[in-house]
Amino acid sequence: MFPSDIIPPYINALSPYEPGKRVEDVAKELGLSKVIKLASNENCLGPNPKVLEALKKALPGIHRYGDAASVELKARIASKLGVSEDSVVCANGSSEFILVLSHAVLGPGLSAVMSTPSFSLYHQNAAASGAEVREVKLRDYAHDPQALRAAVTDNTRLLFLDNPVNPTGAWLDAGKVCELAESLPERCLFLLDEAYVEYAREKAPDYIRLLATGKVVILRTFSKLYGMAGLRAGYALMDPQLALALNKIRQPFNISLLAQVGAMAALEDDDFAKRTKDATWEGLDFLLSELPKAGLATHPTQANFVMARTGDLPGSEFASKLFREGVIVRALGSYGLHDMVRITVGLRDENLSLLSAARKVLGKA
Ligand SMILES: Cc1ncc(COP(=O)(O)O)c(C=O)c1O
Repeated sequence: MFPSDIIPPYINALSPYEPGKRVEDVAKELGLSKVIKLASNENCLGPNPKVLEALKKALPGIHRYGDAASVELKARIASKLGVSEDSVVCANGSSEFILVLSHAVLGPGLSAVMSTPSFSLYHQNAAASGAEVREVKLRDYAHDPQALRAAVTDNTRLLFLDNPVNPTGAWLDAGKVCELAESLPERCLFLLDEAYVEYAREKAPDYIRLLATGKVVILRTFSKLYGMAGLRAGYALMDPQLALALNKIRQPFNISLLAQVGAMAALEDDDFAKRTKDATWEGLDFLLSELPKAGLATHPTQANFVMARTGDLPGSEFASKLFREGVIVRALGSYGLHDMVRITVGLRDENLSLLSAARKVLGKA
């Protein structure tokens, strides 16, 4: 019999991460030929053709291990952003980085601070390390920097902040981000997660100067603007001493050979990034003007998704009815937002299908 008491209670208490449903699975389940997925904040244009080309060229080499230290990728990230190579750590998606950092600096007797709701892996990984999780409610669906600061104690080693916030899309002004970062005690790291920052219309400032504090870690991903969610690649910028420590505990080949090749091709292609942003903003403007007419009140967003209130229906019921129409959006009950869904911006046709399904479900057709 499995000795279940070897799993610590703080791990037993967790639930597995809930991913968005995959298009293939939904098509099979519903017997539909066309399914529209607007649930996981992926790139609306699909994969970058230049990344696909680079991957094809790299395929014959996949019997070899890749570069365990991602030397070339790190060098390209460093030169693009004007930081030193030893301050970059690459990861198997930014999710893996959250895990590695949490396990490096948290543990029983220590604590982590984060907003609730915000990206669910902050709670998951902090709790899995045995640390106390100190959650601070969003105020009007946005981070409350004063309350976050007030939740930090002498034992807090990590404050997580996603800007924009997943799942609400809210934005925290640069001045407030810097103030919060600079106000933290010496032994508390500040993880600024910029998974969606490239989509922001607000001027995203250059936080790189904050790296000089030694406490700030800036996290980015190739999953969103760069269209590589399925390949898994992300990176973080930090003090070189912290980077050295994290490199000791991450898996040696954490970012695969193909993910490295794809990420390098993606970094070079500013045109794809711009086209993605333009298409996303166009789709977002369309949804922000049309969703309220279909009965879904929207919230301001700086990301490639929008949070919307689902009228008289609970978010989960709206999402499952929409699902039966072949459109997948994310119900936010597990984030404590029972009357909300999160909708990723799609292309024109996808947005139109979403709107017509939503009208049908809400009786506005
Ligand atoms: C705020 C935020 N951070 C990090 C991630 C993780 O992204 P990935 O692991 O694909 O890099 C996500 C994914 O949706 C996210 O919303």
